[in-house]
Amino acid sequence: MKIIIARDYEEMSERAAKIIIDLIKRKPEAVLGLATGATPIRLYQLLVQAYQRGELSFEKVTTFNLDDYVGLNKNSRDSFYSYMHENLFSQVDIRPENINLLDGSASNLTDECLNYERLIKEAGGIDLQLLGIGLDGHIGFAEPGSSFDGRTFVVNLTKSTIETNAKGFIELKQSPTQGITMGPGTIMEAGQILMLANGLHKAPIIHKAFYGPVTEDVPASVLQRHPDCLVILDAAAAGE
Ligand code: GLP
Repeated sequence: MKIIIARDYEEMSERAAKIIIDLIKRKPEAVLGLATGATPIRLYQLLVQAYQRGELSFEKVTTFNLDDYVGLNKNSRDSFYSYMHENLFSQVDIRPENINLLDGSASNLTDECLNYERLIKEAGGIDLQLLGIGLDGHIGFAEPGSSFDGRTFVVNLTKSTIETNAKGFIELKQSPTQGITMGPGTIMEAGQILMLANGLHKAPIIHKAFYGPVTEDVPASVLQRHPDCLVILDAAAAGE
């Protein structure tokens, strides 16, 4: 894997945007795996700006988001569906039928997981998977202990994830305790991985995940085995 240390959040986001813009220019029908959270917000703004400048079109792009909360209606302002629409989809020319998100309010979650895996296959697989990292090393919502072979599944969130994410809720009073997420096995099949992390609080887990042993206790450590994984950090996250 390759690690780039950017000066700051802005440079990290600019470098990531360039990679995604270049991919879409090279392959207009690219299949992108997308992430939510605070980390990629600026990246999405830069993609929107590039679209507004006429530099690229999302018309043929297909997207698959990593995860969402179980039990949360997609129209809730706290759903990852709302996040994606607000930060990216409503501002570019992506076709609604090319947008794929896991529905945590589906009546049959097992079917929802199996169906998602089928849709990814039918789309020809994910060309580039964007990732953030949780403070406990999770990728998507695949928490410590998740099998490296795991496919899309329903997961009990850790205390650390529940507490960290609770801070960002707009409507929710109580944190969801379960997520629905691509598994490490699904993520590892993407052609290319682009992980972003910024801020001092991410430094210990970045060190553990990429300079420590590959172990299911630290889900992100599996990325050490990916043949084309780029991690872009700001100087703070690279601190350790
Ligand atoms: C969340 C999401 C992940 C995200 C990660 C980091 O729980 N499920 O997809 O990458 O945690 O979030 P942030 O970017 O806000 O630090």
